Amino acid sequence: MNKATAVACSNIAFVKYWGKRDEALHLPLNSSLSMALSQATTTTTVAFDPGLAEDEIAIEGQAAPDPARLRVVRHLDRIRQMARVELRARVASRNSFPPDAGIASSASGFAALTLAATRAAGLDLSTRELSCLARLGSGSAARSIPGGFVEWHAGQDHESCCAEQIAAPQHWPELRDIVAVLEREPKSVGSTQGMALAQTSPHLTTRLAVIPGRLERAWQAILDRNLAALGEVSEEEAIELHLIAMSSRPPIYYWRPATLGLIHRVLAWRSEGLEVYFTIDAGPNVHLLCEEKDTGPIVAELEEMPEVQQIIVNAPGFRAHLCPEHLF
Ligand code: PMV
Repeated sequence: MNKATAVACSNIAFVKYWGKRDEALHLPLNSSLSMALSQATTTTTVAFDPGLAEDEIAIEGQAAPDPARLRVVRHLDRIRQMARVELRARVASRNSFPPDAGIASSASGFAALTLAATRAAGLDLSTRELSCLARLGSGSAARSIPGGFVEWHAGQDHESCCAEQIAAPQHWPELRDIVAVLEREPKSVGSTQGMALAQTSPHLTTRLAVIPGRLERAWQAILDRNLAALGEVSEEEAIELHLIAMSSRPPIYYWRPATLGLIHRVLAWRSEGLEVYFTIDAGPNVHLLCEEKDTGPIVAELEEMPEVQQIIVNAPGFRAHLCPEHLF
């Protein structure tokens, strides 16, 4: 087989990844914990083709511009080397969410690319091997290989730095992650650049010291399906990622006024008895964590807010898998 198609979910981290101990291998400073997002997927078809002189990469039907194209070519090169394949590839990729929704398409994108390209090249890798390999494309992609609730182990080296499922999506099917899109512009500072500055924050050492306790709490909260406990640790983590970013030199401000506005709304809703918590990635948009029964009232509130440009409601998503229909 020289053609394969895979689909993978993006993910949202409850305990975050912000800083690398090895830039080239994407080895993180700490382990992290996430959930796959059911409504934020990437589908990718890869075909190795003797008729091609160079890799042809299309994202949403358009030829990928540099530097995105170069990142994909470098990942294909890794896979060609592993499989001892010299052929160039045709790659087509589509996201279920708009590129400007502020959801990391690099996580679902590199997970889907890794699975599709390895299969098209004739390799049959384990989940663990796929996760390590996806990590080389984009760190957070390691967490988009297994489905449901996932821990990405910081590990010791390339082979041990992989993500593993800690609970299946069916373990907590009522959990929801509602993405409130507040701004559609690409973020001012990319995560690679932002993470490279993490070491300049005087607060990073404190953060790294408290992470093991947070991982333990988030793990237990997921096992117990305890939203209050998971929400508490997720909010601590989101604020701390931004604390590190804002105290880096030079500082990075990802929040917009509407970001803080929505944080205040979440606190107000909670004081009125609605069980909802927030988390925020390296950007201005806010993810709201709640259970299915509260999704209706929360979405209704968000729809009333003019600053909310789009709403995406996710349940715990599935593992990266092959699909029979190809994009070309
Ligand atoms: O997309 P990456 O692999 O550069 O990592 C982004 C990391 C955050 O999304 C900001 C946090 C996380 O743990 O997902």
